[in-house]
Amino acid sequence: MSHAVFNVPSRLVLSVLAAAALLAACGGGDDPQPYLTLDGAKPLVVGHRGASGYLPEHTIESYTLAIEQGADAIEPDLVMTKDGVLVARHEPMLSGTTNVADKPEFASRKSTKMMDGIATTDWFVGDFTLAELKTLGAKIAPASRPQANDGKFKVPTFDEIVALAKAKSQEKGRNIAVYPETKHPTFHVEQGLRLEDKLIATLVAAGWNSKTAPAFVQSFEPGSLKYMRGKGLNTRMVQLIDADWVDFKTGNLTFAAPWDRPYDWTKAGDKRLYSAMVTPAGLAEIKTYADGIGPWKPYIASLKWTLNADGSGKDVNGDGKVDWADASSTPATSLVADAHKAGLFVHAYTFRNEKGGLAFDFGGDPAKEYQLFYSTGIDGLFSDFPDTALAARAAYAKQLGY
Ligand code: G3P
Ligand code: CA
Repeated sequence: MSHAVFNVPSRLVLSVLAAAALLAACGGGDDPQPYLTLDGAKPLVVGHRGASGYLPEHTIESYTLAIEQGADAIEPDLVMTKDGVLVARHEPMLSGTTNVADKPEFASRKSTKMMDGIATTDWFVGDFTLAELKTLGAKIAPASRPQANDGKFKVPTFDEIVALAKAKSQEKGRNIAVYPETKHPTFHVEQGLRLEDKLIATLVAAGWNSKTAPAFVQSFEPGSLKYMRGKGLNTRMVQLIDADWVDFKTGNLTFAAPWDRPYDWTKAGDKRLYSAMVTPAGLAEIKTYADGIGPWKPYIASLKWTLNADGSGKDVNGDGKVDWADASSTPATSLVADAHKAGLFVHAYTFRNEKGGLAFDFGGDPAKEYQLFYSTGIDGLFSDFPDTALAARAAYAKQLGY
């Protein structure tokens, strides 16, 4: 694969550049080394779906835990109810994160819809009023995570999340940002629902229609962000950049539908892949409507297997499978530097503690993954475990001399 993301400087080169910047800035004295972020501030820790490693995602309780752990921002993914209310769910479907399947009164609501070109059978948020949705209990999605709180917490509205952030900001004496994502915006329009208009109205009512507001708006679909800019939303915006998976034999990202390109591009017949977004031309285009990018983390440091003589991947951790956890990190790409050069900040997703999602060279220790990514100069990251991300950030700050 030849696109720019794999045209990489080594971590050694990045370190030398950082040291040179440090000497220039500090005259070789004992001052702390500067952060390599776009604005020189410490990287932002975003509680991804709250503190979703511990509590059912996208609930007031999960967001509250993230805030109590010290997260700088909380991240609600937004979808819309039948009666036009923005609520937080990772997707328009309900069965993965609520107990809707256990509710006989909603059995007939199960339906099949075309979502982003794929026939999807589930219960859809857009077929429920807010009052109906409030009768459901949220549940934690991955089976490996604690299920003791399943069914106890409600699906929150975006208004309730904004109110929480405001109240907690006042209580804590620090700004807690809200980081909403428009989820499947083209699908919503096809259902006659416009996420963006309600999102703009809420942000304006909150007094957050400015670049300095404690808010970031993100989407995988460029058209959603452009629509909101066109409607006068000035809040910082973030273009998310996905891929399907990693080819662990080469370390290159792969692009299979529906994770090959944003669905609004697919619908418009635009054949470019997400990878087009990380080229200099792609970054310059993003800069015309957004303030930052949110790439999947292998765009910044990918993973690669050690290969056997026959070209297959080695089971280096000896668990009988050959997967993500057998791959080791490749040197950092130039993406963070390229984005900064284009004037864009970089918030990478998603960081998790589970060993199966960590590269082999991290030895099961998520702190080592954070260390690698913070040292690339990323401006922020999304974590399911904000406490781990914050502890690693504190360790990184100490290394820099803070
Ligand atoms: O928004 C950052 C990250 O959350 C994107 O992935 O699928 O968790 O929304 P997803
Ligand atoms: Ca998200």
